[in-house]
Amino acid sequence: MYFMSLQSEINKRRTFAIISHPDAGKTTLTEKLLLMGGAIQTAGAVKSNKIRKTTTSDFMEIERQRGISVSTSVMAFEYKDIRVNILDTPGHKDFAEDTYRTLTAVDSVILVVDSVKGVEEQTRKLMEVCRMRHTPVMIFLNKMDREGRDAFDLIDELEKELNIAVSPYTWPIGSGSKFKGVYNIYNKSVSLFLPDKTNIPEDIIETDNLDSQSIIDFAGADLIAKTKEEVGFVGDFFENFNLNLYREGYMAPLFFGSALNNFGVKELLDTFVEIAPPPGKVEASGRVVEPNEEQLTGFIFKIHANLDPNHRDRIAFMRICSGKFERNKFYHHSRLAKKVRFSSPTSFMANAKSVIDEAWPGDVVGLYDNGDFTIGDTLTEGESLMFKGIPSFSPEILREVINMDPFRSKQLDKGVRQLAGEGLAQLFIVPAGNKKIIGTVGELQYDVIKFRLEHEYGAKCNFASLSYTKACWVTTTDKKEMEKFMLRKSGSVAFDKDDNPVFLAEGDWIIKVMKDTYPSLTFHNTSDFKLHLNSGVEKN
Ligand code: G4P
Repeated sequence: MYFMSLQSEINKRRTFAIISHPDAGKTTLTEKLLLMGGAIQTAGAVKSNKIRKTTTSDFMEIERQRGISVSTSVMAFEYKDIRVNILDTPGHKDFAEDTYRTLTAVDSVILVVDSVKGVEEQTRKLMEVCRMRHTPVMIFLNKMDREGRDAFDLIDELEKELNIAVSPYTWPIGSGSKFKGVYNIYNKSVSLFLPDKTNIPEDIIETDNLDSQSIIDFAGADLIAKTKEEVGFVGDFFENFNLNLYREGYMAPLFFGSALNNFGVKELLDTFVEIAPPPGKVEASGRVVEPNEEQLTGFIFKIHANLDPNHRDRIAFMRICSGKFERNKFYHHSRLAKKVRFSSPTSFMANAKSVIDEAWPGDVVGLYDNGDFTIGDTLTEGESLMFKGIPSFSPEILREVINMDPFRSKQLDKGVRQLAGEGLAQLFIVPAGNKKIIGTVGELQYDVIKFRLEHEYGAKCNFASLSYTKACWVTTTDKKEMEKFMLRKSGSVAFDKDDNPVFLAEGDWIIKVMKDTYPSLTFHNTSDFKLHLNSGVEKN
């Protein structure tokens, strides 16, 4: 009986993230999906978690925006008997690592691409992470109401730059000022474009084929003839949609539309609930966890700390991988090997949060935390288990922490470790001189860390620039050679939070020199959070 209800809860769920380069239309699309799912009633109800360009140096503003993003962390709604969980991702590139980590907690993604701009920098990076994890991807080519680029050119660019087969599911009838609608190649219906920025247009005209007189009257005979010709080419140039290839992450179905005008969004959502995968198996160290296992497993992929001194609570976000989560039940915290229970686990739904009694695979629950959790931690019903996570990426900026108040060095140490545990930045310790080095992907984190150390831990620090431009994780097949390397480069070898050795390099040239001198060493640009537990990486 329990098994049956577990399985039906799993089948009902679709957990995904919308990803995009900033400004492509992620927030707008999210809002339109929520409108369609009945989770919100009016447009504008979802606040953008976007950090406005004018305030990039104002980190309190960032925190305010991050506060908004807590309440929009997970937005759930029901559509056609499917429970859709949308996991929000930060728009700002300095918080890209947050987004990468959120991608560990989803079963699929919708990638939004601006049809005027095509593939942009963040599009490329995010897709790299999706490919690495074989995450199924649907693509929404947005802003078709703008004078954009030729659809064939755009698809060509998507395929080449994102390294994925693209299969058009719909096809645009014109574009820009001549954008008249989309033709659904699979069910051969046509939706005509009637711009409506606020509500779900109820008067979308659907008809069977492109030859119907009402469509020709609406779009003009020339445009329809051109569209028919293009649709013919689509069959010649691109592969037909294949569900298995999509679910394995090799093929992305493509949709054209305009999120702002609520157009093409219904086709996207209808297809999404039909083809997107339900919660699947998750790889852990030592075994694979199936969602329909009776015992609960889940992992923390995001931690949000409140900056408000009156509310020092942290919320850890856990993705449930298997079993049923229950309020007030004791669970096993794998890393600390201790029992924990939660009296007020929350779910977040479009700006409102509520206490929940139970949750199922694919769901995300918010757990109030007083410092027990770090990113990647696992809850089980007793088993000692760690999920394989997403790598930490080699940080782009490295700075040394300089203690400005010698009487508070313990607090500084604790603060730096806890903030790194939250995933705000990476911490590397150089044993020679016990130096603390903070690595980030953006400048903003340094302001946030400095502020938080002072306000939450009473510690003062500065950051000193370093000549390093890269941090690479080092593994070896020859322990002796590793020892020699460590001895020779002791000033530049640090350890990450899991005690994995990391080489701090001044540039690619020095890595090449080291590779030539110590051929058994491998230098990695990324480090899987949990891989070290079973990959035999040397620890010192
Ligand atoms: P993001 O979350 O990916 O960063 O993008 P967001 O949805 O905030 O959209 C970025 C800008 O693009 C917004 O304009 C939004 O109105 C616009 N936009 C989104 N979808 C479409 C579309 O289909 N067609 C057109 N023409 N524009 C679209 P903004 O002026 O930056 O912000 P706002 O003042 O309108 O909020």
